[in-house]
Amino acid sequence: MSVEFRVVVLISGRGSNLEQLILKAVDYKVVGIVSNKAEAGGLRYAKVHDIPAFVIERSQFESLSDQKRAILQKVLELKPDLVALAGFMQIIDPEFIDALSGRVINIHPSLLPKFPGLNTHSRALQASESRHGCTVHFVDKGIDTGKIIAQAEVAVLEDDTEETLAARVLEQEHQLYPKIVNQLARGEICLSK
Ligand code: GRF
Repeated sequence: MSVEFRVVVLISGRGSNLEQLILKAVDYKVVGIVSNKAEAGGLRYAKVHDIPAFVIERSQFESLSDQKRAILQKVLELKPDLVALAGFMQIIDPEFIDALSGRVINIHPSLLPKFPGLNTHSRALQASESRHGCTVHFVDKGIDTGKIIAQAEVAVLEDDTEETLAARVLEQEHQLYPKIVNQLARGEICLSK
């Protein structure tokens, strides 16, 4: 009997990484999706693939901390072996990290430690970088500061715009993230930080 490696994915928007995580799951299963935005386009993949999805929005709660507590509670109910952030645009609180010690990962569209935070593609162009890319990393209590698991690079071309560069990086994200989650599920990468 094979043991199921349960992955919960948190999203806020388009969900293209979520879709790839679902389509390329070999040694894990996406068992739940949590969105902090009802309008997140990625929620459609929950329907298509028959995966339970939960919208937990700030507006449903009196305070931000109540909403964040509800997200954590839902994630814990889903009993994840791994939580994968995929375009989840909300700051992760220390309580979340403590409750899920070493089991939260993220994909970030830059070669960390370069360009943590937002607008990574325009900042890479602005800085005249010759290489750019994406990073899968453990999530710790900082912003985009957790231990790096893997990166994929692209060359920055002379005529690149923010859009063309973002599209090339996204292609890499779609390969790298499921590959790493499959490796984590197989125990080829150690889960604890
Ligand atoms: C991706 O570029 C990811 O690296 C970043 O947010 C974006 C999410 O895109 N964290 P999508 O929602 O997965 O399409």
